[in-house]
Amino acid sequence: HTIYLKDYQPPAYRIDKTELRVDIREQSARVSACLAFERQASACEQLFLHGENLELVSVAINDRTLANDQYQVDEKGLTLFNPPASFTLQTEVTVYPKQNTSLEGLYKSRSIYCTQCEAEGFRKITYFLDRPDVMSDFTTTIIADRASCPVLLSNGNKIDSGTLEDGRHFATWHDPFKKPAYLFALVAGDLASIQDEFVTQSGRKVALEIFVENKDLDKCDHAMTSLKNSMAWDEKVYGREYDLDIFMIVAVDDFNMGAMENKGLNIFNTSCVLAKPETTTDVGFQRVEGVVAHEYFHNWSGNRVTCRDWFQLSLKEGFTVYRDSCFSADMGSSTVKRVEDVSVLRAHQFAEDAGPMAHPIRPASFIEISNFYTITIYEKGAEVVRMLANLLGPDEFRKATDLYFERHDGQAVTTEEFVQAMADVSGRDLTQFKRWYDQAGTPRVKVTDHYHEASRQYSLTFSQSTPATPECSDKKPFHIPVAMGLLGSAGELALKLDGETLDDLPEDNTQKVLELTEPEQTFIFNDVPEHPVPSLLRGFSAPVKLSFAYSRQDLADLMQRDSDGFNRWEASQNLALAVLDDAIRAFRQGSLEGFTVDPLLIDSYRQLLGDEQLDQAMVALMLTLPSQDYIAEQYEEVDVEAIYSARRLLTKTIAAELVEALRARLTAYDNRKPYSAEADSIAARSLKNTALAYLMQDPSQSDLDYCLAQFNNANNMTDEVAALSALVYSESPLVSEHAEAALAAFYQKWQDEALVVNQWLSLQARDPRPNALLRVSALLQHPAYDGANPNKIRAVIGAFCMGNPINFHTGLLDDPSAGYRFLADQVIALDAKNPQIAARLITPLTRWRRYTPARARAMRAELERIKAAPELSGDSYEIVTKSL
Ligand code: ARG
Ligand code: ZN
Repeated sequence: HTIYLKDYQPPAYRIDKTELRVDIREQSARVSACLAFERQASACEQLFLHGENLELVSVAINDRTLANDQYQVDEKGLTLFNPPASFTLQTEVTVYPKQNTSLEGLYKSRSIYCTQCEAEGFRKITYFLDRPDVMSDFTTTIIADRASCPVLLSNGNKIDSGTLEDGRHFATWHDPFKKPAYLFALVAGDLASIQDEFVTQSGRKVALEIFVENKDLDKCDHAMTSLKNSMAWDEKVYGREYDLDIFMIVAVDDFNMGAMENKGLNIFNTSCVLAKPETTTDVGFQRVEGVVAHEYFHNWSGNRVTCRDWFQLSLKEGFTVYRDSCFSADMGSSTVKRVEDVSVLRAHQFAEDAGPMAHPIRPASFIEISNFYTITIYEKGAEVVRMLANLLGPDEFRKATDLYFERHDGQAVTTEEFVQAMADVSGRDLTQFKRWYDQAGTPRVKVTDHYHEASRQYSLTFSQSTPATPECSDKKPFHIPVAMGLLGSAGELALKLDGETLDDLPEDNTQKVLELTEPEQTFIFNDVPEHPVPSLLRGFSAPVKLSFAYSRQDLADLMQRDSDGFNRWEASQNLALAVLDDAIRAFRQGSLEGFTVDPLLIDSYRQLLGDEQLDQAMVALMLTLPSQDYIAEQYEEVDVEAIYSARRLLTKTIAAELVEALRARLTAYDNRKPYSAEADSIAARSLKNTALAYLMQDPSQSDLDYCLAQFNNANNMTDEVAALSALVYSESPLVSEHAEAALAAFYQKWQDEALVVNQWLSLQARDPRPNALLRVSALLQHPAYDGANPNKIRAVIGAFCMGNPINFHTGLLDDPSAGYRFLADQVIALDAKNPQIAARLITPLTRWRRYTPARARAMRAELERIKAAPELSGDSYEIVTKSL
């Protein structure tokens, strides 16, 4: 059933103290809880405690076992009748970690017992008020076999430990900070660790420890460095110090998401901790850095100040994603990071915002909160915080976050409080801005311009509108900051808005932020010497779809000359989209036979390849055609084959036309350079490997030799996997036998490295050539596959259904809807075991309205089939019913 924000009620009781004793045995675990309840509302006849999949052994209040008429248990929880105002509840339950395939609550990952409680997993450990506004002081004793579980961890500080009979031992941990149950964690297992130390700015020593399986001990250094960098950065940029004496990270192989910010004891998916050059790509290194930072930053944005209820999820997630993306920008290239973030947002969040699951960053209702750990809550939430930061400017934003942390330390609050701190510090009226929290959908901003030569005035007219989304069809205008500049023939023009005098203006006044608040608004600039080319929405200053009728020459010009690096990239994307559109139209009108690619694009790319000044990572990004998903975003109705064929033709044409320039970039790269994960090394590799992928479209023998040599001799996974994919994805007959051999050799070499095997699986699942589904089905039978491990599921099923659109949507040559049926089969099978993962996989089917009629019908039919599956989880039910 649906839960509504408007129904929020504060809890009737607090739980001031929580004492847990978790006795772990091979077959089951016994959880004893002792909870100190205090009433904080008028008397209530019934108190309901959450509890799921628990076997109740005993229940007592103030040491007196309850009679049968004093309580009631059902599959959702425990109801106490007429509880006193102040009491201690003692419960004992049995849980079954080994059988817990949902990976929520207490479960076993390989040989490690661990927990995942956010959002509502604590109720699978014991009966509790499992809601974030109930904050408690936790003391946890873990008891387990010493031989198999030498390491016993929980939140806070270890206050006791010792030996027990029968080879068993215990450890007791106390967390001095009150916290909601979703931040609880415990770990028991045979773990190795690396240790380090951080001294905070006020001089306190913090012990740092990363726990992994012994075999992975050589892959922890990058996470540790990232952690120390994060701690220093949060002190410098936000004035936030760490607060406990110890900070621990544990890596487990089976994890539904990336990682979890449990107080003092972060638990991570191995994919977000482990890194070493031989096994981890540059993208992997950056992901570890970003996720370590993200979870660490939650200590303040999430733990010290937490959410009142789950509708406020973006309070901590949006803010924390904003924080980690600024951190990554500072560690590497900020323009590159911005381009990467915006690419993901526009390809995936815009699609979500346009589909049946569209929701505001603060939703008004949901059925299953796990379904709302979305790219909207996280990434659009971060964009909203970014807009606030830019509207306030760095000094006021810092004052506002200081105020927010100080005012709400130890509290569970709402997004209102966050914005209020921004308003209080800046004195700005943010009433209209708050619509970003309540209205879903991506605003469209249409811009037109006019130049009046006689008066030397230039005007820009903006109109905004937002399409209907399920929760609301009548959108009010948003407050949209548009960062902009004007390009004249000799460079950036000075900006003087009508009404402004020179005294109003800063010395460098070539960039402004225009604030749109009305459905339509015109801005007039004075003293403009010529008709300029506007550079709009610099740095992607708002999450909107902006359109302006640029000529292709304007785009080529912006690509070369805009002072805003992001907009240079943006112009390259728009120019490519325009040319792709030519090809898509040609395809739809019959054929791409004889189609000519606009030479302006080729020339612009040639210029780019010759630009030695520009960051090589930017050159690589600008040379990369928009993704299939982002191209699809441009069209009401998605024609999968047309998009795929157009993109493929452009790729081949660019490769053919620019062979020499591409080879020049390839040979300029020094292959003997030792590996480094610094930004400039990453940049150099990305450009070299982009060039290699183009060249391998139709390679000469020496290109092929280069690629094979790189594959065989690479000293790092980035180059090795780049060479492998260049081989596998090449359609040249010269390459095919080498591709198969390389795939086999790669597996032989890396079969014992789970994360590398995942790369091998997903590379094949993304293979765009026909009938990939046959290969995918075979991979599911491969010994490397494990249908209970989310990383493997994502690497094969996820990669095929979301990362291989041409094959997902065209199926098999003799069975066009085979991809859809495959996905529905997998979802149905998985739903019984791990509903969170099953529900997430459904996403591509929910977009059925966007596809051509036959496809839409076939996708819909599979959604119906999932819906009819017996005992479908609430998770999948919500996604399926909302999208039908
Ligand atoms: N709070 C975590 C993070 O963003 C993710 C929560 C994990 N949730 C889950 N249902 N597994 O860092
Ligand atoms: Zn988070």
